[in-house]
Amino acid sequence: MGFGVLGVFLGLLLEVSTHGPHTVPRTSWKHQDLDLMEFSEPGIYNYSTLLLSEERDALYVGAREAIFQLSKKNVTVRNNKVQWTVAENSMMMCTLKGKSKERDCLNYIRVLQVVDDERLYVCGTHAFQPQCDYLNLGDFSLDGRPEDGRGKCSFDPSQSFTTVMVDGELYSGTAYNFLGSEPIISRYSPSQSLLRTEYSTSWLNEPSFVFADVIREGENGADGDDDKIYYFFTEVSVEYEFFGKLLIPRVARVCKGDLGGQRTLQKKWTSFLKAKLVCSMPELNFVFNVVHDVFILKGAHSKDTIIYGVFTSQWGNVGLSAVCAYNMTAVEEVFSRGKYMQKATVEQSHTKWVRYNGITPSPRPGACINNMLRQQNITSSLHLPDKTLQFVKDHPLLEDPVLPIGNGPRLITKDVNYTQIVVERVRALDRKIYDVIFTGTDKGVLHKSVVFEGEVHIVEEIQLLKNSEPIKNLLLSSESRSLYAGSDSGVVQSPTAFCSKYSSCSDCILARDPHCAWDPRSKACVNIFNATQQQLRKLIQNLNGDADSCPSVAAPSQKDYQRVTVKPGSSAELPCLVHSNLAQVMWKSNGSLLTEASRFHFIAENGLLIYSVAPEDQGYYECWSVEWAPAAGKNFSRLMAGYALALDLPPRTPPPQAGGVATTSGSEETPGRHAAEGNGKTDEAPLTSGLGPLSFTTTALLTSPPQTDSSLTPPPSSTVKLPPKQHLPPTSNVRHPDSRDPAAEYLQHNNTTALLFLFLLFFLLFLAALVYNCYMQYLPAPCLRLRAALLGTHKSTHQPEYRACEAGLMETSGGTDKINLTEQPTQNGSQATQNLRALRDTGYETEPECGNGRVPSHSFGGDSDSPSQEKPFDVDCESQPIQFADAD
Ligand SMILES: *[C@@H]1O[C@H](CO)[C@@H](O)[C@H](O)[C@H]1NC(C)=O
Ligand SMILES: *[C@@H]1O[C@H](CO)[C@@H](O)[C@H](O)[C@H]1NC(C)=O
Ligand SMILES: *[C@@H]1O[C@H](CO)[C@@H](O)[C@H](O)[C@H]1NC(C)=O
Ligand SMILES: *[C@@H]1O[C@H](CO)[C@@H](O)[C@H](O)[C@H]1NC(C)=O
Ligand SMILES: *[C@@H]1O[C@H](CO)[C@@H](O)[C@H](O)[C@H]1NC(C)=O
Ligand SMILES: *[C@@H]1O[C@H](CO)[C@@H](O)[C@H](O)[C@H]1NC(C)=O
Ligand SMILES: *[C@@H]1O[C@H](CO)[C@@H](O)[C@H](O)[C@H]1NC(C)=O
Ligand SMILES: *[C@@H]1O[C@H](CO)[C@@H](O)[C@H](O)[C@H]1NC(C)=O
Repeated sequence: MGFGVLGVFLGLLLEVSTHGPHTVPRTSWKHQDLDLMEFSEPGIYNYSTLLLSEERDALYVGAREAIFQLSKKNVTVRNNKVQWTVAENSMMMCTLKGKSKERDCLNYIRVLQVVDDERLYVCGTHAFQPQCDYLNLGDFSLDGRPEDGRGKCSFDPSQSFTTVMVDGELYSGTAYNFLGSEPIISRYSPSQSLLRTEYSTSWLNEPSFVFADVIREGENGADGDDDKIYYFFTEVSVEYEFFGKLLIPRVARVCKGDLGGQRTLQKKWTSFLKAKLVCSMPELNFVFNVVHDVFILKGAHSKDTIIYGVFTSQWGNVGLSAVCAYNMTAVEEVFSRGKYMQKATVEQSHTKWVRYNGITPSPRPGACINNMLRQQNITSSLHLPDKTLQFVKDHPLLEDPVLPIGNGPRLITKDVNYTQIVVERVRALDRKIYDVIFTGTDKGVLHKSVVFEGEVHIVEEIQLLKNSEPIKNLLLSSESRSLYAGSDSGVVQSPTAFCSKYSSCSDCILARDPHCAWDPRSKACVNIFNATQQQLRKLIQNLNGDADSCPSVAAPSQKDYQRVTVKPGSSAELPCLVHSNLAQVMWKSNGSLLTEASRFHFIAENGLLIYSVAPEDQGYYECWSVEWAPAAGKNFSRLMAGYALALDLPPRTPPPQAGGVATTSGSEETPGRHAAEGNGKTDEAPLTSGLGPLSFTTTALLTSPPQTDSSLTPPPSSTVKLPPKQHLPPTSNVRHPDSRDPAAEYLQHNNTTALLFLFLLFFLLFLAALVYNCYMQYLPAPCLRLRAALLGTHKSTHQPEYRACEAGLMETSGGTDKINLTEQPTQNGSQATQNLRALRDTGYETEPECGNGRVPSHSFGGDSDSPSQEKPFDVDCESQPIQFADAD
């Protein structure tokens, strides 16, 4: 059974990864193309803790056994450094416990927080014996009186962990023991004892902490509500049963003023509540259920505050990442009004989580102390009644999920794993505010995206780190207009925009970067935050990418085209570099479109290659970039390069054989440089010698309608692989067979073959099962329909079984509308698919199934699990007695 289910999964994932929506970065910058500032010191690694101090103009970096103070303006400038190593005896204790001396038993700095103007609070894993200390900023030295770091910092440097300092108190999400098995959300304050979570799987179940931050109520909180600290993590679900562990992204919160309970929940949070975060593609029933990082974009009012999260799926190898955004008001709504969930015993032994429908005690369990409670003489959590406390202790989980804005991801990207996110709110020249999303990947790449009228556009991807390694930490400073990325090997500083890299007006506009605008006077793409007031009025910016607003440039005459003269039979390369991954390159000769069918032409990524040039190949060649700007609803065509190709005919005798001879040799060969060899001039001549002089004049003469484009300049040597022509518009049909599959080209991705293989495997399995079932007459008539279901056309025609089950459950528990559980005609093969889809469909709403944690089997592998032949997969919800303990 498991195998069959797996097959369905793979099929589903494949369907999502191939048909699902995903966005492609318009431009790709390589590390060496950019002049980024970097910092690292020999022998020091794991630069993963970063802290920005705008006042001190500093970036503090916590690495392995060292803390640095770098200049915020230029991280290559190191202003201070302090080392914090592990003493010999601690090291020995650690190794005795079986940890590695080189890896684990070192001091990984994981907490760097501002205490006051003079001091930072610093914690390190300290050889699996976490310790904290104060760092004096005056002389950049540690106090040397380390405190116990248990509950503030993780023991294990590789374990997930989060922390935030609020008003001198340190809030952490970490593990409280050496084994890392006791998760804890805690508050440490110098004046009080540690406040923490209850050690129970209903509070925290193998969580992976990613982020924590404070949301202030501010003055607008007229009801005197408390500030709240929000935690984000992924944990193993308790409310769904699944074969294996089902991960669930969560948001939890505690109140800042919480002091714990008097009798119940002593020194424990009385305000700990959590809810699930939903990030899914409802139309494909695909759930992103692992949250990796969160950024809270704080607005002036809490209703302007947006929570951004990056997600992937637990079934990770589809290679899809998503960004979901949540309205802070919606989150607050869930916490202040959501229904609680409760554990119920099913069939004597089994427990399930179901919605609690009884009467909730008052004051509302988990609520912060506000003016209303104060009027009832409840001025702190110590005064809360035991009934409320006992309830929140048993019911920390809310049933209502937090849904994303627009009910789906803001951004879906293929073949990347996002690890980090920061968001900047930018006021563009149209006076509108745009959220610019920066996401870091596990391969050291940064994506810059902008949300325009609800649609997301990836402006660029940047190879931020030299090596392909995860971005462990990402910070943004709007003030210095820089991003800071920490990784295992160093710290990199990058500007938030690369406007000057866009060399023509249309390129500048088509980039759709809210930071950038075209200055017609200086003929440069400039950062609008670096422009003078008078300059601002003249700047051209059009975030829908409508490049028609660019000043028109006279089309160059053919007389100005670069002359290229080659010997008959040799090959010619006409370079043409198009930076945009959204553009298509078209070549015209003598004004008519060159297609791949044209003989001896090879449209390569960086130009046109003509093998064995014959007399009839002479003429004018133009390279056009056609870029589709979806938000403007237009194509923009630009002439990128023009050439006049002529043969170098020694005397006036035309060489009639040359073309023919070369033809045979050329056409038999595989296309590419290889084919050019042995003809005409020297071996490398066609490329190198062709390029040198060309690149020179190209810049001077060429001629794109808007203006000259220095980005056309090919690299000095033709052996340099240019940034691959990556993504094409889905409509792309002018494609050359020689070029690689566009889907596979994209800085670093190459797993299409694996997916293809999986698909084939799955398909074969399915075919076998289908044939077998048809043969055994398990399938009545609808063999055909089954096929259709597999192809996804029946996506929504069948009511998922879960729905019925769920309805049944609700009916039992809540006495809602009576729902008739009629048995739906089902098709064996697609049954499991339906169930899995249903699980996604509901955004894992309540009970995923009625079968004790097992997805009803189906006949894929021909396994023996099938209950009965007639109605193998009907799920009978009513037959399962569920005991509800609605009221206490
Ligand atoms: C950053 O500092 C280094 C070292 O002082 C210097 O060489 C470099 O030019 C600086 N870069 C910038 C952009 O200021
Ligand atoms: C620290 O950096 C080293 C070297 O890059 C890496 O192998 C190791 O996994 C890192 N450790 C942690 C805990 O990040
Ligand atoms: C969040 O929701 C509130 C209430 O529905 C609404 O007023 C506010 O504009 C929303 N905020 C955003 C940023 O969408
Ligand atoms: C609150 O306490 C005050 C004084 O201790 C008392 O007069 C008042 O009746 C109390 N109010 C409530 C609602 O218990
Ligand atoms: C994403 O991460 C998963 C799990 O770590 C890995 O299997 C996959 O290859 C990664 N994908 C990419 C595109 O890096
Ligand atoms: C900002 O403009 C000044 C001159 O106007 C220039 O020297 C500087 O390099 C610009 N900075 C950036 C980040 O573009
Ligand atoms: C272009 O036109 C010239 C003259 O009209 C002709 O000789 C040549 O063969 C044409 N070249 C191509 C590639 O069509
Ligand atoms: C835009 O250009 C592409 C590629 O040439 C073409 O397939 C598409 O039909 C064009 N769209 C419009 C609206 O002109």
